[in-house]
Amino acid sequence: MIIAALQFQPAFLDVDANLSTLASYLESVDADLVVLPELCTSGYFFRDAEQLAAVAEDADGPSLRLFREIAAERNMAIVAGFAERDGAAIYNAAATVFPEGRVEIYRKVHLFAEEKRLFTPGDRGFPVITWGDRLRLGVMICYDWRFPEAARTLALRGAQVIAHPSNLVAAPRLWKPVMRTRSFENKVFTITANRNGEERRDDERLVFHGCSQIVAPNGTFLEEVDELYEGWLTAQIEPSKADEKAFSPWNDIMADRRPEAYEL
Ligand code: ACM
Repeated sequence: MIIAALQFQPAFLDVDANLSTLASYLESVDADLVVLPELCTSGYFFRDAEQLAAVAEDADGPSLRLFREIAAERNMAIVAGFAERDGAAIYNAAATVFPEGRVEIYRKVHLFAEEKRLFTPGDRGFPVITWGDRLRLGVMICYDWRFPEAARTLALRGAQVIAHPSNLVAAPRLWKPVMRTRSFENKVFTITANRNGEERRDDERLVFHGCSQIVAPNGTFLEEVDELYEGWLTAQIEPSKADEKAFSPWNDIMADRRPEAYEL
């Protein structure tokens, strides 16, 4: 299976422009599973609820319609961060869109900074999404990286690959080794698709650091790029490698756990 992550700079508040950019990127990649950044259809640095509401959409909105079309046409699964409207609530969400039209949505559990005044916290936990016998996929968004429970829960539920759409503002020297550890400690593949560029709001400026990466269950970087890179990172993987949790005849990182000794 070929997996890919996109690193690019969305145009703030311009969903049409972003969908057109994303459509051309998606037409140019050869992969089975692609991961796009957090809030890739809208940008991130919202001033207020009205700005966010103007770009939020439900699962039948233009963004997911486009992703469904492209997923079917290109025969690939697309994980894409977007602002999901559900009634009065708006979630920082990531949709997984399959070629046959199925859509599964993860709603960000751990909200970061000002997201707390704009978004409703995710209410569905960390579900694992099964793609026939091809893949068991988990999704976490950006700041979820700081919570080992997120990746651990997905791994315990059988995820082989964790897609991690991101708008990371923390220094890559912090989150890169941590996401490598999330792969290593759970023996899963992780794909961090982090946007780059900056957004301005009055005299404030938010810088996103790119440096997207794909990591194997043994902690090897399969692909990593720098902050300024724009485009795809790809890697060929065998998802079943993530089912091998033993690293010696004596030790298996899941079987060796002692939940009765932990407070979680
Ligand atoms: C973040 O969670 N977007 C930093």
